[in-house]
Amino acid sequence: MSDLIGQLEALQVEAQAALVAAQHTPETEAWYAAYLGRKGKMTTILRGLGQLSQEERPRVGKRANEIKETLEAALLVRQESIAAAEMQRMLASEGIDVTMPGRRPQVGKLHPTNQAMREMVEILKQMGFQVYDSPEVETDDFNFGLLNFPPDHPAREMQDTFFTTTPDVILRTHTSPGQIHAMRQYAPEPIRVMLPGKCYRNEDVTARSEMMFYQIEGLAIGRNITFSDLKGTLLNFANQMYGEGRKIRFRKSYFPFTEPSVEVDVDCVLCGGAGCRLCKHTGWLEILGAGMVHPIVLQNGGYDPALYSGFAFGMGIERQAMLKRGVDDIRLFYSNDVRFLERV
Ligand code: PHE
Repeated sequence: MSDLIGQLEALQVEAQAALVAAQHTPETEAWYAAYLGRKGKMTTILRGLGQLSQEERPRVGKRANEIKETLEAALLVRQESIAAAEMQRMLASEGIDVTMPGRRPQVGKLHPTNQAMREMVEILKQMGFQVYDSPEVETDDFNFGLLNFPPDHPAREMQDTFFTTTPDVILRTHTSPGQIHAMRQYAPEPIRVMLPGKCYRNEDVTARSEMMFYQIEGLAIGRNITFSDLKGTLLNFANQMYGEGRKIRFRKSYFPFTEPSVEVDVDCVLCGGAGCRLCKHTGWLEILGAGMVHPIVLQNGGYDPALYSGFAFGMGIERQAMLKRGVDDIRLFYSNDVRFLERV
């Protein structure tokens, strides 16, 4: 019996030395077959178990198992370090320098229109305006009639319209029809909403006008809302959008859905009001149209004009992006020139 245990322990010493000598994965596989496999040396030694007495057999068997487990664990460790060394050799032979910095992946960025839109939404959000989603395809009534454009009135021609094959169904020419949708949903509650989105006009495409563009509209309805509230809101907007200390100027204007109506200018972002090519030497840049919501429009939205008042404003999103970033051709926004999209 002591002889068998002695043989097993000698085998362990021999096997461990052989394992250290193994340098490659196939050698470790051969090692396993030679020592621990079904036809290996361990099996050969254990054939002697049959000659042992009943009492001796379990003790020798137990010792044999311990040695087997120790050798199997040593094999795993050896295989891992061989795999790591093989990986190192492979990387070296392929000339890969693992310390070299990686290539920076190209990531996309927001379209300039979306950048400007999000910036404007953020500013209006701080003043309590909530985004209200309104459809791009409208009826003639929502786009014009309910906004107090009289039928066949020349004011409709201010905004050349894309019609559809369905009578009375058109592509909206401005975001103002959203005013009616928002009012009808919330009347008689006070509201402060913004309506960002696409608009369409059947116009010649030039450096200053596209047939598809974005607007963002603001609308506030409540009791005692005055023109001063409109002024304060727009001054705050201009200061946040175009920089602190900005001045704004109101010029009288006309829109069927507001009364009084104004167009609003900001002092030129380029020359600060001194006069330059961008502001055509006037010192001012037009940024939006606005006014107090017309009583008929309040009524069409479900508010009693004797009790409620409100203001509205609307502006082109690309136009704001152009003024802020010095872009002089609106066509660049939708002609998919990556050089422009990456720069702005
Ligand atoms: N809807 C007008 C336009 O597209 C802008 C506007 C909105 C004017 C709200 C006044 C009030 O030109």
